[in-house]
Amino acid sequence: MRFTEAIITAALAAGAKAGPIIEERQAGTITVDLSKTFQTIDGFGFSLAFQRANLITKMSDKTKQRELLDLLFNRTTGAGFTILRNGIGSSPDSSSDHMNTFAPSNPGGPKAAPKYQWDGKDSGQLFVSQEAVNTYGVKTIYADAWSAPGYMKTNGNEANGGSLCGVSGATCSSGDWKQAYADYLVAYVKYYAEAGVKVSHLGFLNEPEFSAGYASMRSSGQQAADFIKVLYPTIQAANLTDGPGIVCCDSEGWGNQVSMTNAIKSAGAESMLKTITSHTYTGGPSGAMSTRLPVWLSEQCDLQGGWSTSWYANGGAGDGLTWANNIYSAVVNNNISGYVYWEGVQWPNPNTNEKIIRVDNSTNTYQVAKRLWAFANWSRYVQPGAVRVSTAGAPSGLRTAAFKNVDGSIAVIAISSSGSAVTANIKIAGATPETVEAYVSDNSHNCEKTTASVAADGIISGSVASRSITTFFVPAAPAAGGA
Ligand SMILES: *[C@@H]1O[C@H](CO)[C@@H](O)[C@H](O)[C@H]1NC(C)=O
Ligand SMILES: *[C@@H]1O[C@H](CO)[C@@H](O)[C@H](O)[C@H]1NC(C)=O
Ligand SMILES: *[C@@H]1O[C@H](CO)[C@@H](O)[C@H](O)[C@H]1NC(C)=O
Ligand SMILES: *[C@@H]1O[C@H](CO)[C@@H](O)[C@H](O)[C@H]1NC(C)=O
Ligand SMILES: *[C@@H]1O[C@H](CO)[C@@H](O)[C@H](O)[C@H]1NC(C)=O
Repeated sequence: MRFTEAIITAALAAGAKAGPIIEERQAGTITVDLSKTFQTIDGFGFSLAFQRANLITKMSDKTKQRELLDLLFNRTTGAGFTILRNGIGSSPDSSSDHMNTFAPSNPGGPKAAPKYQWDGKDSGQLFVSQEAVNTYGVKTIYADAWSAPGYMKTNGNEANGGSLCGVSGATCSSGDWKQAYADYLVAYVKYYAEAGVKVSHLGFLNEPEFSAGYASMRSSGQQAADFIKVLYPTIQAANLTDGPGIVCCDSEGWGNQVSMTNAIKSAGAESMLKTITSHTYTGGPSGAMSTRLPVWLSEQCDLQGGWSTSWYANGGAGDGLTWANNIYSAVVNNNISGYVYWEGVQWPNPNTNEKIIRVDNSTNTYQVAKRLWAFANWSRYVQPGAVRVSTAGAPSGLRTAAFKNVDGSIAVIAISSSGSAVTANIKIAGATPETVEAYVSDNSHNCEKTTASVAADGIISGSVASRSITTFFVPAAPAAGGA
């Protein structure tokens, strides 16, 4: 690929006028160094847990159903999300928004043959997963259990905390359920495999430091390690082709996840994991976590504010621009490899920003928050496997990040906090790009193509709109003329 050894030099000059490009570069040169690499990106995504998937799966208007799927997964017309986080149900029923388990009844102990009842729906998530994989090419399906079924736990209930029987400090008169829970999770993966969906990532906890009134299970790092040491060989023995990697622990906040990760390392189980995951509800990162594993922020959202579709309303927690910046901080400042919003869709009540698209299933109508387009600027162009590379020299008011995709294409992302447009000149040293594409999301544009051009001397020029995220995308060059 001709760009892989190139240096991109982007010169972004606030308020630059038309004139010689060389002079504008001197006003502030952003240097993108493809040889200085950081973390590999796994992708960007969302969840449809707790039956939100049914808003898509049961949408009777099939045109609208396709529109919703396109908004979430299509790389040309939607966000192009590449990670889907599904909930593995633990509830004995599907009332309210419960995710039902496929093992609702105690077979008579941990050694008894389990009584699985797979319903082929998985709370609406199987259909969306099949669409994601088959129609849109999504490869990262993260299946995560909020809890084991109640009869496997110390409190006999899938809700209100409790621990898995058999981990350190959790003994039950019914016995040790670690192996039964591992078998159960692997059975879930096999049901998905039979339906044509490969589960790539498998988790067994959600917010293990919090006893919620819904599906929840407590776990310390040591207790998680106890179970990982059972789950790992169970996956190995299951003869799944390229079986799922284990994910841990979806802590409610970063601090708890740091403690759990350290305890898992001390217990010698880090090498059995594929990915570390954390939420940020009780605190976010202030630097990279100490682990060699990729780290995802696996559940984020604004739970407080009223539903907002705005791009910029003075930096509100639901604003699109706020989320463009949240992703930036995670990826650039905290070494995050995967960034997953909470719900992709949800009905209007509660009136919060925990969803990206608000679907009213009584009228078959929907509203899209501008947050979707903030994600689009990242997710469409920074594909799974992309390596983050260094940028330096951004002028004040502009944050930049750059990525080299597996196919050799390059994405340079610029987020502006400036109240006026900033002219961008990008030089790819050592190569003459043939084409560049630029996309902008702001108050009036939803990841729309904007003008950018390549001059005869190879300098790309474009504009970063006021308070926007603008992505400059250099497509992979034909393999001619380079190694
Ligand atoms: C994405 O949307 C475009 C435009 O409607 C359509 O042509 C394309 O087939 C869609 N992509 C997928 C993978 O469905
Ligand atoms: C996996 O394959 C081996 C060798 O073919 C076989 O002995 C074993 O029973 C299989 N395990 C499962 C869980 O299917
Ligand atoms: C960043 O994460 C990667 C794994 O994705 C890891 O190998 C690397 O050591 C981390 N870097 C820092 C500075 O912690
Ligand atoms: C809308 O979704 C809710 C929650 O899944 C469900 O209880 C309700 O029956 C649905 N309404 C319609 C009209 O489909
Ligand atoms: C990128 O974000 C801008 C807002 O800053 C938006 O106008 C544009 O449509 C987005 N581009 C894509 C490809 O989503």
